[in-house]
Amino acid sequence: MRDRNTKNELWDLLDNQYEGNQARYKKRKRENKRKDSIERSVLAEQLNKEEDNFNFTYQPSRHEQQWISSALREFYLDSMISDVLHVVRGGKEANVYCCKGHPAIGLDLLAAKIYRPRLLRNLKNDSLYKEGRVLLGDDGKTMRDQRSQRAVAKKTRIGGEMSITSWIEHEFQTLQQLHAAGADVPMPVAQNGNAILMEYIGEANAPAPVLHEVRLDPSEAPELFARLLRNVELLLAHNRIHADLSSYNVLYWEGEVKIIDFPQVVDPLYNNKGYQLLLRDIERLCQYFGRYGINANPASLASDLWSRYLRGEFG
Ligand SMILES: Nc1ncnc2c1ncn2[C@@H]1O[C@H](COP(=O)(O)OP(=O)(O)OP(=O)(O)O)[C@@H](O)[C@H]1O
Ligand SMILES: [Mg+2]
Repeated sequence: MRDRNTKNELWDLLDNQYEGNQARYKKRKRENKRKDSIERSVLAEQLNKEEDNFNFTYQPSRHEQQWISSALREFYLDSMISDVLHVVRGGKEANVYCCKGHPAIGLDLLAAKIYRPRLLRNLKNDSLYKEGRVLLGDDGKTMRDQRSQRAVAKKTRIGGEMSITSWIEHEFQTLQQLHAAGADVPMPVAQNGNAILMEYIGEANAPAPVLHEVRLDPSEAPELFARLLRNVELLLAHNRIHADLSSYNVLYWEGEVKIIDFPQVVDPLYNNKGYQLLLRDIERLCQYFGRYGINANPASLASDLWSRYLRGEFG
């Protein structure tokens, strides 16, 4: 109802502007010409957007509904998703929603990760991860211009916005790169603004749990541990360190694992904390699998990987 009222108000505004007081309108015609056309296009755009809004099964608060609608509208209009079914998890930085895939996309379910605008505030050790990292602009291209880079560094308002896009682009491009390389990550589908669309792991009403929430059969632990280490190696072979790898960022489904959550991934070629971050990732994996009797030495695993990486043995 309120939607309709808002829409009527917008139309009224347009009506008043163009069919209202003709005398006054004529008098101010010239000076207002430019302003009118700008206002009209803004209003028209708003109306179009409202008409493009889609209704979905999930019924959150009005605020969240608008947030989801504006973040996922393009995916809906591009026939990628046809419905938003429920929220999978509301994290500190993003919410993940379970969506119904449009028949054209060939996947029944999709996960949509929508970042909060205040993302930057919550990213831990922002500068540590970003050190030496290539920044990407809205178009996904490297931001070469020094002013943009400085703005990001200073975290000015504009810089903040660029950084957010940059993190999300970075996560999506990393997913694309690693998925193509055969890593155990969800298949990326699309990225737009503050949202990433990817393969959904689990069933509609039973999203895959993270490893931390699972009680593994002790017999499957060694193989899963080895598989995750192979993924760490594969990432390194592509100059990537996850940098927040733990049992909280690995999904477990039907005996298989998928690594998620890549915004903070680093390139060790440009980040001089690369080894520290690699070691920490491996320590956390060892810590988790330790409870299943796997007795691995994280320092020697990390240094072995690292020296093979430095010798260029990964091809
Ligand atoms: N592709 C997916 N399929 C199913 N569930 C997913 C998928 N991606 C993420 N999730 C769920 O959403 C949660 C949050 O995702 P992710 O870790 O990428 O975001 P986050 O912002 O780091 O959240 P958190 O602060 O909780 O770690 C995951 O723990 C997982 O439960
Ligand atoms: Mg996470």
